[in-house]
Amino acid sequence: MSQPVAKVSLTGIKPTGDPHLGNLVGAIRPALQLAEEYDSLYFIADYHALTTVRDPELLRHYSRSVAATWMAAGLDPKRTTFYVQSDVPEIFELTWALSCITGKGLMNRAHAYKAARDRNLEAGEDPDAGVNMGLFNYPILMAVDILIMESDVVPVGRDQVQHVEYAADIAGSFNHLYGRSYEFKIPQAIIPPGETGHTLPGLDGRKMSKSYDNTIPLFLQENQLKKLVRRIPTDSTPVEAPKDPDSSAPFLILESFAPPSASGLVADTRKRLEEGGMGWGELKNVLFEVLNTELAPLRERYDELMRPGSELDSFLADGAERARARASRVLSSVRKAIGIAR
Ligand code: ADP
Ligand code: TRP
Repeated sequence: MSQPVAKVSLTGIKPTGDPHLGNLVGAIRPALQLAEEYDSLYFIADYHALTTVRDPELLRHYSRSVAATWMAAGLDPKRTTFYVQSDVPEIFELTWALSCITGKGLMNRAHAYKAARDRNLEAGEDPDAGVNMGLFNYPILMAVDILIMESDVVPVGRDQVQHVEYAADIAGSFNHLYGRSYEFKIPQAIIPPGETGHTLPGLDGRKMSKSYDNTIPLFLQENQLKKLVRRIPTDSTPVEAPKDPDSSAPFLILESFAPPSASGLVADTRKRLEEGGMGWGELKNVLFEVLNTELAPLRERYDELMRPGSELDSFLADGAERARARASRVLSSVRKAIGIAR
């Protein structure tokens, strides 16, 4: 009997900043867990980042840094096809073909574009002020990322679910027109397990996010990490008073981040806060120790991978080759189906 074929799971990571603790807990760890049961493809979406990042050095740095982070966090490049979007030019050709069957109205309704228009209208500006065509076409490029790799599931944060629905819509339009010759698989968004858990608070108590400039980056020097942990906000409850762990930013970070081996420590910390007698300073020391113990080996591996000419380059080259093999198979079927190839 033949082995059942594993379903394909694909996700793109936009290289627009240095990865932080929230990304590790909410995106990287859950995706690595999914890679255990799916045929997984993860990629650096550098063309998507180009809609906002204008500094070439910075884009190069973020692309490399995000790739090195995923590998340092445990991505196995043999198991997962790990590549950079711009290394797969087939994506562009399909983007044009699918643009030609996608209604402009659908793009007008996309969340990111609509939000930009609404902001402009509110400010009394031209509705399209500051909107580039990359932002407008963003969902089509993303649909192609997904469809060209014949993805079954796409693990994404909630804000990206609409884009995956668009990919399914666009696939449906194509199948309706050309389905006798080639049919795209219809993808489905899944919210990975980490997403349903806690959202990590940042240094100002709001959601940790690079847009709020309140993150704890993953690969800080030890003393900088300590300094940032000290900056996490707490109130002025005295040491002896009972405290509510579930409204305490340092505790929430500890709870979401701690590995299973530290679950005893987390439970004990919760109890001591609830009973009173543990101050915020001591809690922050516990948090720092756990973070530092976990992150130190990752930091070392990250630094190794970030060196010019490191193994990272050959891992990504190998990933690109595997990704292109898949993409070109799909593209050549599409070319035949639409009448571009004879
Ligand atoms: P940012 O908000 O810093 O711009 P992104 O939007 O690039 O982060 O998020 C990339 C991934 O990391 C998403 O899947 C998102 O859900 C996850 N993530 C980001 N911030 C957090 C957080 N504070 N807590 C949990 N997950 C997060
Ligand atoms: N748009 C996604 C984000 O902002 C990144 C992305 C690009 C992506 N292409 C994708 C995610 C394909 C999933 C599948 O996070």
